[in-house]
Amino acid sequence: MQVAIDGPAGSGKSTVCKIIASKYGFTYIDTGAMYRSIAYVAENFGYDDIEKKAAEVEFILEDNGKKISIRYNGETIDLTTKIRTPEISSKVAFIASNKEIRKILVAKQQSYAKGCDVIMEGRDITTVVLPEADIKVYLTASPEERAKRRYKEWENKSDAPKFEDVLKDIIKRDEMDTNRAESPLMQARDAIFIDTTGLTLEQVSDKIGELIQNKKNK
Ligand code: DC
Repeated sequence: MQVAIDGPAGSGKSTVCKIIASKYGFTYIDTGAMYRSIAYVAENFGYDDIEKKAAEVEFILEDNGKKISIRYNGETIDLTTKIRTPEISSKVAFIASNKEIRKILVAKQQSYAKGCDVIMEGRDITTVVLPEADIKVYLTASPEERAKRRYKEWENKSDAPKFEDVLKDIIKRDEMDTNRAESPLMQARDAIFIDTTGLTLEQVSDKIGELIQNKKNK
């Protein structure tokens, strides 16, 4: 079975996907981590010929979405934490707007989804990568709610940003994701819309779990 989840930054996609993946034994693919990995390659090996470099990157996805490494330039590099920095976050939209890079990564994502139970999340999974998925969901929440969730991740850390800055960043990312020319974030016509504002992520995963059960019982 293929479950495709799209939605803006902070909509709860990753947490919900991890819950579903472990509950139903699905393979979890975080496609944002793949774009972030190419941003890492660009930052560390240069932006010249980045499409060629992207084609050479071999992804090693382990521990069901909890670990990502790449093989590149003769090295194996664990990127699990290296792609979660403010620098990579600020560079990745540029990489994700590159048509050629998208083509390369979409082909890899489609090959990962072949022949297994998979839950895949991103911005174009329901529209471009897996348009024939068994279940398609568009997850969202108000910008304030999403900023609160992101802000909470920084709680008690000395380098925590201001809440207003987190909110501004969410609004800016929404704008970039929805207005770019290549595969912009949008709700597929046949995707189920779930507004997670005011819901716990367990409640959201229960809703998606119900959709999976209904499909299995058919
Ligand atoms: O979900 P995330 O924040 O890790 O995504 C990182 C970036 O990659 C973000 O700018 C959106 C983009 N992205 C994309 O364009 N298509 C996807 N399928 C997944 C992520």
